[in-house]
Amino acid sequence: LSKILLDPAGFPFRDWIMKHAVHLFSSSDIQELYPISEAVRVIEKAFLHHALGKSRMPSKIYLDLPEYGGDFRAMPAALFSPPVAGIKWVNSHPSNRKRGIPTVMAMVIVNDAKTALPLAIMDGTLLTNLRTGAAGAVAVKHLSRRKAKRLALIGAGAQALFQTRAILSVRDSIDEIRIYDPLQKSIRSFEASLAETYTKAIRVAKTARQCVEGADIVVTTTPSRKPIVKREWLADGVHINAIGADAPGKQELDPEILNHATVIVDDRDQATHSGEINIPVNRGQFSPKKIASTLGEVIAKKSGKSLETRTTVFDSTGLAIQDIASAAYILAKAKKRGDLATFDFFS
Ligand SMILES: NC(=O)c1ccc[n+]([C@@H]2O[C@H](COP(=O)([O-])OP(=O)(O)OC[C@H]3O[C@@H](n4cnc5c(N)ncnc54)[C@H](O)[C@@H]3O)[C@@H](O)[C@H]2O)c1
Repeated sequence: LSKILLDPAGFPFRDWIMKHAVHLFSSSDIQELYPISEAVRVIEKAFLHHALGKSRMPSKIYLDLPEYGGDFRAMPAALFSPPVAGIKWVNSHPSNRKRGIPTVMAMVIVNDAKTALPLAIMDGTLLTNLRTGAAGAVAVKHLSRRKAKRLALIGAGAQALFQTRAILSVRDSIDEIRIYDPLQKSIRSFEASLAETYTKAIRVAKTARQCVEGADIVVTTTPSRKPIVKREWLADGVHINAIGADAPGKQELDPEILNHATVIVDDRDQATHSGEINIPVNRGQFSPKKIASTLGEVIAKKSGKSLETRTTVFDSTGLAIQDIASAAYILAKAKKRGDLATFDFFS
């Protein structure tokens, strides 16, 4: 078969395939083509389309590597307008921080869903950060107080930065940012990176409690395996983005918070298996029946009630539709601009 594929004369579809060279996107291409405000719009639409049955996505598959303190995930999805399918291959290795390399890295492959022709391969690391931040902002837009002022961040790593940038793009009422992270290096790098977009002083809290007390929005972005935030520290009507727990065994919130809040998930199956609710569900401390709805259903107004004044938790596990919708958008925008890097896999 490879002889036929490699022989131009013997492979009748070769010319056709050559017209569909695979485009390559680096992290700096993505930075240029995918500003956070556009990511928020793309992700909101992706969640909505998913709730309306306009995309297909099995739960992500985990390849656990406890001997290396990490894991890989394979995340496939298909979207129907335009018809694209794709997969993200992504890891989570929290101890990479000590090695001076990112804890989360990813690659994305995009195909035409009708013909299966490969269309693009792109860096998925920045894409993951952007689409995760954007999902947090979509949740804040639909679930937090319109005039939310105080944003509290537990964890000051990559996700904290992208959550903050994205949330600031949907809530210009925010005038106080507090942050808690035992790692001073993370705090310093967060402050330096955010200085480009946020000029006010950031309040560095000494404890998680000091950070979240009185906050309108709380965002947790740590790889923690036990609760960090307690219910009694939180004000009524707070909105929480629980971002860090995205694999079995991870947890950042006191289960009491879940039992007294309206819990919105990105995906019911994934959240139950690997989201913030995974441990409380396994221990019988929270019933999956208490999930109020998915974020897509909230956007589609299927939940029917205003959630602005309630205590709400958005349990984010990260969906393949976020990645593939982002990748498809970046590819379409780049094609309009022209001058794309390509690679001919069939030569
Ligand atoms: N939901 C999603 O879609 C999604 C997407 C990407 C990553 N994640 C998850 O988010 C988490 C964070 O990812 P990241 O890329 O920001 O990692 P990161 O390593 O860049 O940052 C994590 C930060 O959390 C801090 N931390 C650890 N324990 C803490 C504690 N008890 N209190 C306060 N801070 C603490 C660390 O010091 C570090 O600064 C990981 O668990 C990752 O798997 C989720």
